[in-house]
Amino acid sequence: MNEPRVLISPSILAADFARLGEAIAVVEKAGADMIHIDVMDGHFVPNLTLGPVIVKAVRGVTSLPIDAHLMVTDPEAYASVFIDAGADYVVFHSEASEDPATLIDRIHDLGGKAGLAVNPPNPAEQLEPFLSGIDLALVMTVNPGFAGQSFIGEVMPKLRTVSDWKRERGLEFLIEVDGGIGPSNAGTVVENGGEVLVAASAIFKADDPAAALREIRAAGERAVV
Ligand code: DX5
Ligand code: ZN
Repeated sequence: MNEPRVLISPSILAADFARLGEAIAVVEKAGADMIHIDVMDGHFVPNLTLGPVIVKAVRGVTSLPIDAHLMVTDPEAYASVFIDAGADYVVFHSEASEDPATLIDRIHDLGGKAGLAVNPPNPAEQLEPFLSGIDLALVMTVNPGFAGQSFIGEVMPKLRTVSDWKRERGLEFLIEVDGGIGPSNAGTVVENGGEVLVAASAIFKADDPAAALREIRAAGERAVV
């Protein structure tokens, strides 16, 4: 298969936690490329979700890369905890960090890959100073806090800006997009530069999660020129 590929990172936030191992096995078999774990602290976002014990449990049942999406007010305090638990990517929101560049270096020193996230109301410029140092840029298409929200299409020009900067500057970070993604908008996301599509509800709330994952990827790949 030498066609360009769209990567899919199912977010376990909408999985059945009583059967998490099975849920991961299903998406892994269906071709998931990464597993996205949404960490919310009840401060940075108004919800409490998953912590390092879940990352560790997921690490124990899959060899796929784990991307830990830290929606926390103090990412400095937790980066090493998540890397120790088995996360490959530690993705944080730069407005939550006093010194994103230092945290990016620290994540690298700890053996992790570093990602920076930008929320829908915030501009691409929030990421710009750090682009040459990161492994992943996460463009949010919902305001973080909950699975099952509607995709905010107004974010597409910002996604395209990040994608243009990547190409023009010869940078190599992955462009991940997260929030409200499903078969109906995966093509738009890819057309605008999305490379890793995160989806929780569209996969885990579907009657057939494996088919849903394949459908999202196919819709994205149809948009690859
Ligand atoms: C939102 C999280 C997302 C969320 C995606 O705060 O960062 O990863 O779980 O859920 P869906 O795909 O249902 O919008
Ligand atoms: Zn997320």
